[in-house]
Amino acid sequence: MQEKEILLSVRNLDVNFGTKRKPFHAVKNVSFDIYRGETFGLVGESGSGKTTIGRAILRINSTSGGEIIYKGEKISGKISKTLDQKVISEIQMIFQDPMSSLNERAKVDYIVSEGTYNTKKGISAKERKNLVDEALLDVGLLPDFASRFPHEFSGGQRQRIGIARALIMEPEFIVADEPISALDVSIRAQVLNLMSKLQKERGLTYLFIAHDLSVMRFISDRIAVISKGQLVELAPCEELFKNPLHPYTKALLSVVPQPDPENERNKKILIYDPSEHDYENDPPSWMEVTPGHYVQANEKEKEKYLKELVLD
Ligand SMILES: Nc1ncnc2c1ncn2[C@@H]1O[C@H](COP(=O)(O)OP(=O)(O)OP(=O)(O)O)[C@@H](O)[C@H]1O
Ligand SMILES: [Mg+2]
Repeated sequence: MQEKEILLSVRNLDVNFGTKRKPFHAVKNVSFDIYRGETFGLVGESGSGKTTIGRAILRINSTSGGEIIYKGEKISGKISKTLDQKVISEIQMIFQDPMSSLNERAKVDYIVSEGTYNTKKGISAKERKNLVDEALLDVGLLPDFASRFPHEFSGGQRQRIGIARALIMEPEFIVADEPISALDVSIRAQVLNLMSKLQKERGLTYLFIAHDLSVMRFISDRIAVISKGQLVELAPCEELFKNPLHPYTKALLSVVPQPDPENERNKKILIYDPSEHDYENDPPSWMEVTPGHYVQANEKEKEKYLKELVLD
């Protein structure tokens, strides 16, 4: 098998907010690698630090510890102007709420092309318009829409505009921050399908953020689970669904809707109680239980998890 290429590496990342004297640790010692061409899912409840990690990768949030490495180069902290330009053009973000993430006073034409004023300074107005037309067509919208304002569009169309705005930059890596959560259920699949089509055509790599596991199964190659700023489990998608080990992962899985009505009626929703861990006396570490399957556990939990594992 061909060795997988690591596109982005997050190493012991800390992000603090607040003051030096009274810091709030939003992200604590988070590490993961993302391979080129994969969809890496990051899932966790509201406030667990998902967006903060995405924004740290895009250099919108500054990091307090650790580092972020893209194509072998450190992109966190102080970096050269050339590298900063590279990050700006190659890494893009798609936002959660298409109703508030588009500038209401700008026409679609400007919204979609805004980034190119930075990366493609020298091109003519006509060339820029061609790029916009192409990006709109790529996401299934008509080039005529360029002269309209965001309020004239539905949620799904607005999210497509958000995707066009990212695509026009010809990115390699996209942080998709809950891109379908705010959309009507009926159009979620369309936007997901569009994203996977674009991924296949262009070899894109995604960090896909969501707060529940239900969509993750259909799009993620691997999934990391985050709770209160810390990763608690990371595994290939099917492995995580088959062998969830951490109680927080189990709780997230227990709320995933079941297609079978009988199962749905009888399902038991689990509540995660962090005080169940005895971490004072037996502190946890990040351990690999089977190849590629990591969990945060102390020695006692590790023993229990190893017994629970269902192996092929
Ligand atoms: N700029 C900021 N200043 C202060 N605190 C912040 C800032 N950004 C985020 N936080 C805090 O950091 C924590 C993590 O926030 P974050 O937005 O990353 O969570 P999330 O997992 O994306 O949640 P959601 O699912 O609601 O989007 C939260 O407690 C949040 O209030
Ligand atoms: Mg968020």
